[in-house]
Amino acid sequence: MTLTIQRHQDGKTGTATFDIASLRVTTLLGAFYEIKAKLDPTLTFDAGCRSGVCGRCAVRVNGRETLACSHTLQGDEHIEPLQYHPILRDLKVDTSQAHAKIVSEDSRRDEALIPSVSTPEEESRYRLQTDCILCDCCYSACPVLAVTPDFLGPFALTRVWRYVVDPRFEEQDASRLETVQKNGIWDCTLCGECTTVCPQHIDPKSDILHLRTASLQAGHTDPTFAQQSFGVPDFGGGFGF
Ligand code: SF4
Ligand code: SF4
Ligand code: FES
Repeated sequence: MTLTIQRHQDGKTGTATFDIASLRVTTLLGAFYEIKAKLDPTLTFDAGCRSGVCGRCAVRVNGRETLACSHTLQGDEHIEPLQYHPILRDLKVDTSQAHAKIVSEDSRRDEALIPSVSTPEEESRYRLQTDCILCDCCYSACPVLAVTPDFLGPFALTRVWRYVVDPRFEEQDASRLETVQKNGIWDCTLCGECTTVCPQHIDPKSDILHLRTASLQAGHTDPTFAQQSFGVPDFGGGFGF
């Protein structure tokens, strides 16, 4: 059993393959720690809780995003850092730029003004979204970010929906919806990759669809639809009889 790991160190990139058959590990994160301890102390990766809670150990395994601490080794595997994040070293990436896309949303909260209690029914509307651990798996899996780096991305849009659906923040819904019109909900292709890779079983694609419906109800328009409608050539009218 081997792990081929993409390496980025001191301006050089490449891969290193490690035979891990004798390491007696079951998880990918366990293999990283053993490689670092016994085979290559320079291997760099990020991790914290080792139990799927902190969201720091996300990597790509054979082209699919996953948490290294939750991933059971299944044979020869190819490991890469998350996409669309600056690589700091090997598998460790800088998530600050991606996470900054939700800072403006969180800064809107004024806890002093928010009733602290939701009814169970209200809470059930946003419970799932609240479980986001900011692992960035969905962000790395999103094909739109390959061509539109300014796209807000799935977890930031899920966060917006979490507040829009919470009646305690109702007064801010209009301004929240305004923030997702540009580089937001209309840029999503609804491919569902974000939903497929989320370790918390959150469904950003559905949340984006909900945001689209709420936006239309609030008077916004789908710019793609508007372009198609207004892009029809004008042949001057009349039927030429
Ligand atoms: S559904 Fe939308 S946000 Fe999710 S991965 Fe696809 S394009 Fe990105
Ligand atoms: S929505 Fe899921 S995949 Fe995306 S950052 Fe949150 S927990 Fe990770
Ligand atoms: S180490 Fe915390 S989620 Fe994997």
